[in-house]
Amino acid sequence: MSELVSMRTDGGVAVITIDNPPVNAIKYEVRAGLVDLVSRAAGGDAGISAIVIACAGRTFVAGADITEFGKPPRPPSAIAVIEALEACPKPVVAALHGTPLGGGLELALGCHFRVAAPGTRLGLPEIKLGIIPGAGGTQRLPRLVGMEKAMAMILSGEPIPVRDALDSGLVDEIVDSDLVAGAIAFARRAVAEKRPLVLVRDREEKLANAWGLSQFDTAAANYTKRARGQNAPAAAITALRAAITLPVADALRRERDLFLELVASDQSKAQRHIFFAEREAAKVPDIASAKAHDIAKAAVIGAGTMGAGITMCFANAGIPVTVVETSADALTRGLDTVKRNYRNTAARGGLATDEMDARIARITGTTDLAAVADADIVVEAVFEDMGVKQEVFGRLDGIVKSGAVIASNTSYLDIDALGRSTTRPQSVVGMHFFSPANVMRLLEVVRGAATSPETLATAIAVGRKLGKVPAVVGVCHGFVGNRMLRLRGVEAERLLLEGALPHEVDAALTDFGFPMGPFAMGDLAGLDVGWRMRKAQGLSAPIADQLCELGRYGQKTSRGFYLYEPGSRTPKPDPEVERLIVDTAAQRGVARSPLGKDAIVERLLFPMINEGARILREGIAQRPGDIDVIWVYGYGFPAYRGGPMHYADSLGLGYIRDRLTAFADKTGDGRHRPAPLLDELAAAGRGFASLPA
Ligand code: CAA
Repeated sequence: MSELVSMRTDGGVAVITIDNPPVNAIKYEVRAGLVDLVSRAAGGDAGISAIVIACAGRTFVAGADITEFGKPPRPPSAIAVIEALEACPKPVVAALHGTPLGGGLELALGCHFRVAAPGTRLGLPEIKLGIIPGAGGTQRLPRLVGMEKAMAMILSGEPIPVRDALDSGLVDEIVDSDLVAGAIAFARRAVAEKRPLVLVRDREEKLANAWGLSQFDTAAANYTKRARGQNAPAAAITALRAAITLPVADALRRERDLFLELVASDQSKAQRHIFFAEREAAKVPDIASAKAHDIAKAAVIGAGTMGAGITMCFANAGIPVTVVETSADALTRGLDTVKRNYRNTAARGGLATDEMDARIARITGTTDLAAVADADIVVEAVFEDMGVKQEVFGRLDGIVKSGAVIASNTSYLDIDALGRSTTRPQSVVGMHFFSPANVMRLLEVVRGAATSPETLATAIAVGRKLGKVPAVVGVCHGFVGNRMLRLRGVEAERLLLEGALPHEVDAALTDFGFPMGPFAMGDLAGLDVGWRMRKAQGLSAPIADQLCELGRYGQKTSRGFYLYEPGSRTPKPDPEVERLIVDTAAQRGVARSPLGKDAIVERLLFPMINEGARILREGIAQRPGDIDVIWVYGYGFPAYRGGPMHYADSLGLGYIRDRLTAFADKTGDGRHRPAPLLDELAAAGRGFASLPA
C-alpha cells in the first residue's frame, strides 16, 4: 500500500486519507493507493458501512500532478479511481477543504455525496493549462449544477465559493465544525436513512431541464468568440455538448479523446510552462533564508493613474494605506479616481457595497508627507523624472521609520541612483506595477546593487499579498519588459516605412494572440509619453514624432495612429496617417512594398527575443521563464505560446539566428546581430530552456 494514502475506521465508517503535500495532487502512488483502499473498504468487510475520502494538509486534491503530463501514463488512471468509487455499494462521502480543483473535483464528483468546510473553493481550472477536464468533469459537473453554470466554470476555469457550490447542488452540506467528523456523521445519516446511492453520471434531471441545443450553441458562441486562437475552449464546448447529445459512456470517451489530444499539444505545453515559470519567477536562490517583514501599514506617494491604482491594490488586500499628494486638488482628483473605479466595479456586480465601503475606508489621503512615518512600506509613484524622484527619496529618508521598505514604481530609472539619494540604499527596491495597476497581475521587483535580502523578500511577499505575480529583475534602463518593448516599438515604426500600415501591424499581432497591437496600444497610453522620453534621450521615431507634432496624442485627442469617433475607443484607419507614412518613406528614399503577417510578427518578436538573450547573459533576468512570465502577465503575450523565450525554443534558435542576421543586413541595425548567448545556443542546437537553473 502507498504511504501517501491511509485508512482507519471510525465506528463502521472507513476514513481514507490522502497525504501528499503540498496540494495532494493525485500522482501515481495516490491513485494506486486509492484504488486499493477503496476496493478493500467497498468489499466484503461487513463492519464497514460507508467511506469518507478526506485529505491532510492545506487542501483536498488540487488536481492531477501536472509534472506527470507528457510522460507515459502509469495506471491506474484517475478515471479508474473514479470507477472504483462509483462501483462501491456503500455510500462514499468526499470531505472537501481548501481548493478541490481539476482532477480533485472530478474525484469528488465520483463520490455519492460531497460535504465541505467553510472557505472551500471548487473549480475546474484545466482551461488555464490549455486542456479540458479529462476524468469526467465535463459530464458530471453539468449534471449537478446545470449546463449554464458548468459552462461558465469550465470555460473560465475560475473556482466558485462554497456557498455558491451549496446553492447550485455541487456540495450537499457545509460542515462548520470539524470537517472529517462532520463527513463521518453525514455518512452515518446516509446509511441510517438508506439514502439512495445515485451516481452523478446517472443524474439526468438538471440536464433534461436545461438548455436545448440552440440555447447551448448561442451561449457557447460567446465563449468561442473570446478564445483568440486557443484550442481548449472549443474542445471544452464539444465535450459539454456531448453531455446533451450522447449517452454518458460515449460522452465520457469523447471527453477523454479531446483531453489526450490537448495534453499533447504545443499550446498546453506552453501553458504548463507558464504555470511553473510563474511560481519560479519569485524565487531568488541567494536570499532563500531572508525573512520578509510584516506589513501592517502602507503608503503611496503620488495619486496619479499609477499611484491611485497601487493604492487600490493595498486596500483590496486589506492593508490600510495612506496616499500622499502635493496639493489638495491633486489629492481630491486621485481619491475621486479610486472611488469611481470602485463604484464602476460595484455597479458591474464585481464588488458588494459593504466590501467596497470597507476598501475605501482603508484609504487615507493627505498632503503631509510626514504622515508616512509609521508605514512599513512606502511606494513612490510620482512623475517619471530622476530629479523629482531623487528629491522625494531624500525627503522620505528623513521621515520613514527605520527598517521600512522604500520602493519606487519607476518603469525605467536606475534604482541604485534612487538608493544613493537616501542614507539606506539597503531598504530601497523597485516595484514596477503595470497599468492599470489594480488589474494587471505582473510586478517587476527590481533588485538594486545594495537592496538587502530582507527588503527584496518583503517586496516579493507584498507582491504576492496584493495578488500579483512578482518577477525579480536587475537594474538596467527599462528593466526586462520595457527594455524589450522598446525594440518592438522601433521595429513597428520601420515596418510602416517599409510598407505596412498601422492596422496591418496591429492585426498581425492580435492574430498572433496579443490583445492589442503596438499602435492601438500607443494610442491608448498616449503617444506624447514616449515622445517626451525620446526627446529627453535624443532619440526619434519617424512617424510617431510627426503625429505628436500635429497634436495627435492618441485616444485622448481622438487622433493618433488611428482616428476615434467622439466617445468611441474603436481605432479606425486614417487616410491622413497613411499619406504621412507614404510621404515620409518617399522622403527617406524607402521603396514601400506589402508585408505579410508572418513577416511582420517575426520582425516584431525576434529582436525582442534577441534582447531577451542579452538580458539573460547580463543576469538582469535569472531565467528565460522569468522573461516569459513578464511578457505574459505584463504585456499580453499569449500564454498558449508560452512567452517569447519559450516561443523561440519552439521555433528553434537556429531559425531565429538566421532571420536576425537577415534583419541586421536589411536594416543596418547592429542590434539585430544575434546576441552571443543566442548564437552559442543555436550553434549547439540547444534552446533557452536548456540553460542551467
Ligand atoms: N501538480 C503538480 N504540482 C502542483 C500542482 C499540480 N496540480 N498544483 C500546485 N503544484 C505545486 C506548485 O508548483 C508549487 O510548487 P513549488 O512550491 O515547488 O513552487 C506548490 O505545489 C504549491 O503551489 P502554489 O505555490 O500555487 O500554492 P498556492 O497555495 O498559492 O495555490 C493551488 C494552491 C490553488 C492548488 C494552486 O497551486 C493551483 O491552482 N494549482 C493548479 C490546480 C490545477 O490546475 N489543477 C488541475 C490540474 S489538471 C487536471 O486535474 C487534469 C485532469 O482533469 C485529470
